[in-house]
Amino acid sequence: MKKLVTAVLMLAVVIGLSACGNKADNTTAPAGPNAEAIVKTKCATCHGQNLEGVIGPKLNDIGARLTKDDIAKVIKDGKTGNIGVMPPGSLTKQDEIDAVAEYLAAKK
Ligand code: HEC
Repeated sequence: MKKLVTAVLMLAVVIGLSACGNKADNTTAPAGPNAEAIVKTKCATCHGQNLEGVIGPKLNDIGARLTKDDIAKVIKDGKTGNIGVMPPGSLTKQDEIDAVAEYLAAKK
């Protein structure tokens, strides 16, 4: 009987440790949408994988010219100007728009 109790206790410790391991993995995952990944999939065709500009202007220093709100507005409404046409609605989820606008506003 004592052996069984010991075995159960050992098992509980092992399960407890592995549960902690999983928890640690979860907490290292980034919170919210991954802005960099979104930009690479949704914006890079026109603005470049490194924001260096393609048919759209470079965005690697966009934070020096536009605020987070300005950028969010361009993403939502699109923009037609001297360079060309950026279609509206490349992002539709508000949390993604916010995350991308914040990420780009930090590029100065
Ligand atoms: C189909 C091509 C295309 C896609 C896709 C695109 N853009 Fe654009 N974007 C443009 C063009 C062209 C302009 C320039 C419009 C003009 O003439 O002022 C522009 C302008 C901008 C500007 C304003 C730059 C400035 O200097 O005023 C921002 C900010 C921007 N885009 C962000 C984004 C983000 C973020 C995404 C992805 C969610 C994205 N764009 C996707 C083509 C695109």
